[in-house]
Amino acid sequence: MPSLDIIGDDKLTLPGGEVVRFAHLDYAASAPCVRAAADAVAELLPRYGSVHRGTGVRSQASTIAYELARDVVAEFVGAGPDHSVIFTRNTTDALNLLARALPPGTTTVQFDGEHHANLLPWPNPLRLPAPGSPNTAVAALDEALRRLTGPAVFTVTGASNVTGELWPVRRLADVAHAHGVRVVVDAAQLAPHRPVDLTELGADYLAFSGHKLYAPFGAGVLAGRTDWLDAAAPYLAGGGASVAVGDRPGELSWATGPARHEGGTPNLLGAVALAAVCSALITADRAALHEHEQHLLGRLRDGLTAVPEATEVSVFGPDQPRVGIVSLHLRGHDPAEVAQRLSREHGIGVRAGQFCAHPLVRRLTGAATTGACGTAATGLLRASFGLGSTAEDVDRFVTGLAEVLRT
Ligand SMILES: Cc1ncc(COP(=O)(O)O)c(C=O)c1O
Repeated sequence: MPSLDIIGDDKLTLPGGEVVRFAHLDYAASAPCVRAAADAVAELLPRYGSVHRGTGVRSQASTIAYELARDVVAEFVGAGPDHSVIFTRNTTDALNLLARALPPGTTTVQFDGEHHANLLPWPNPLRLPAPGSPNTAVAALDEALRRLTGPAVFTVTGASNVTGELWPVRRLADVAHAHGVRVVVDAAQLAPHRPVDLTELGADYLAFSGHKLYAPFGAGVLAGRTDWLDAAAPYLAGGGASVAVGDRPGELSWATGPARHEGGTPNLLGAVALAAVCSALITADRAALHEHEQHLLGRLRDGLTAVPEATEVSVFGPDQPRVGIVSLHLRGHDPAEVAQRLSREHGIGVRAGQFCAHPLVRRLTGAATTGACGTAATGLLRASFGLGSTAEDVDRFVTGLAEVLRT
């Protein structure tokens, strides 16, 4: 049975001499690796070979492993016969791939609450201000699509990387589809916390990253409807993407299906590790995982009521369902400095800054400045967690934060 236990248990010695377990509260950036992924890599490493290339047993076994990984991911996202699963480097890569595969002249409708990965790659963007409630979001999208002429696509995050809030994806998708508009879901923060079924979400395309889903870095997924993908120019021109190349430039035929966009030697280990986590999640008791995470979230938010200098930010309000991500506005304190002190003095890893979501963080903090990704002086402090997080991690964060803010 593939295990969702987190591997590694770092011990740290604090300046006072106390030895503590590192409290990793930065899952939203990159989650720690689970046993299922590590085991899958360890098993394949001693016997891997080229994928889709050779006739030797290593090559054949690797090709089978790679395609089986694709099948598992297809099951994870509920892909059907009209869908493709493409292995990419990460969510950013997946969304860039899709952005280049849009039919010419497509307008991309989006809210400005997106991570830059889902804000910047799209051609012809129509950017709507992040709404104050799910109902307003649905109405704003309906209104925008009503006014729009010509082909469009709508792209939205499943869960905010800043506030953890779930966007009303299904309702938005229903509105988009009523206007004949396809829907892209950036599931980078949703997939680690909630099931991501294309049909249930109402998504035509889904993108997510292995390194946020308890697998190692370097593999991501774009899953969705094949027709646009097969009609588009290959994302990475080269071997694997081409099936026949003539003597003269331009004399060639491109592959269809995932191979069209997976030019070059694929990241077999990354795909297999990612699929191993998907497989473990498919059979896991998701309700129990959800309950554990929500318990920690409640404990964190309760604890923070005793830290009035820190205010949780939110797009839709405190009652909107959310995943294990909380960002705090610290009045009168530099979040980067607070994050550094939490690490040094308390053995806690959190993130400070604007989390590659500058327009949203500016809106939430009322700031007027811009800054480099994650390094701006005006920003937030973010704690995020998931599998392997404990009540002790949460309590230590709350106590440590209170102490840092008061000394
Ligand atoms: C919501 C969201 N989308 C996209 C990304 C980009 O993911 P990656 O850096 O793995 O491409 C992130 C990363 O933090 C994210 O939180």
